[in-house]
Amino acid sequence: MGHGIAHVAARSGYRVVLVDLDERLLTGAVETVGAEMQRAVEKGKMTAGDREDSMGRIRTSTDVAALSEATFAIEAVVERVDVKRDLFARLDRACPRETILATNTSSISITRIAAATGRPGNVIGMHFMNPVPVMELVEVIRGHLTSDATIEATNALAVALGKKPIEAQDYPGFISNRVLMPMINEAITALMEGVATRDAIDGIMKLGMRHPMGPLELADFIGLDVCLNIMEVLHDGFRDPRYRPCPLLRRMVDAGLLGRKSGRGFYDHSSAPGR
Ligand code: CAA
Repeated sequence: MGHGIAHVAARSGYRVVLVDLDERLLTGAVETVGAEMQRAVEKGKMTAGDREDSMGRIRTSTDVAALSEATFAIEAVVERVDVKRDLFARLDRACPRETILATNTSSISITRIAAATGRPGNVIGMHFMNPVPVMELVEVIRGHLTSDATIEATNALAVALGKKPIEAQDYPGFISNRVLMPMINEAITALMEGVATRDAIDGIMKLGMRHPMGPLELADFIGLDVCLNIMEVLHDGFRDPRYRPCPLLRRMVDAGLLGRKSGRGFYDHSSAPGR
C-alpha cells in the first residue's frame, strides 16, 4: 500500500520520501507509480506534465533518517506489532518533535504503537483502502492519547489527498475490518462446509448485494495471510469465538496459497497483469 499512498500524495502536490529497507522494492514501487500515472495520462485523467511533476516529487531512501524534515510520516510495513513498535521508536528519533506519525495498520492497536514513542498525542491511525488511488475512504483512528490537533491535521491531509476521512475509535479491527473480515471468514466457512461453490458465493454477494467483488475474490485481492492475521487480531482482542479464523483459511495460508500476491488463492492469478 506504500506505493499507492506515495502515488496519491505526489499527485496531490506533496513532496514524498519513500523509505524501505530493500532498494529493489523502492525501485519497483516507483516503477509501479509511474505506470499507474501513465495509465491516467492515457485515459486523459492527468497531463503528461503533471505526471512528470508528480514523479519528480518522489524520492527514495533506505534510511528513516531521510525523514528528518517530514511533517507527516505514514507507515505501511508488515502487520506485526513488534515491527511497527520498533519502527515507530526509530521514527520518533528521526522526525522533528511536531511531526505526526501515522500508521496504515488494518487492525493493530494505535495506542500500543503510540506507546513506543515519546509523542503519543501525535500518533494516529490513517487506514487507506486498496487500491489506494481508487478508493475514497481513509479510516482515521484515534489512539487513547491522540490529540484533537492531530485528528484535525490528519483529516485535513486526507481531504487534500482527495479522500474522505471517517473516524473510528481504537478497538480491534476498528470499523472496516471488524465488519468486513468476519464476512470474508464466513464466506470461507460456507465454502468449507459445501453450502455453495466458490462462484456461487461470490456471485450471490456481487449480484445480490452489489459488492464490486465477491468475498472470496476480495480475500484473494487483500491476501489470505492478511485476512488470517486480521481475524487473529479480532479473536485475540475480543476473546470471542465468533471471530475464530476459519480452518480452511488457515490451511490455505499454510499451503502458501495467499491469493493474488502468490499467484493462487481461491482463484488462479498466475497470469494476472502486474502481479
Ligand atoms: N491502481 C490504480 N488504479 C486502479 C487500480 C490500481 N491498482 N486498480 C484499478 N484501478 C482503476 C482503473 O484504472 C479504473 O479507472 P478508471 O475508472 O479511471 O478507468 C478503475 O479503477 C476501475 O478499474 P477496472 O475497470 O479495471 O476494474 P473494476 O471496475 O472491476 O474495479 C476495483 C476494480 C476498483 C478494484 C473494484 O473491483 C473494487 O472496488 N473492488 C473492491 C475493492 C475493495 O473492497 N477494497 C478494500 C479492500 S480492504 C482494504 O484495503 C483494507 C484492509 O485493511 C484489508
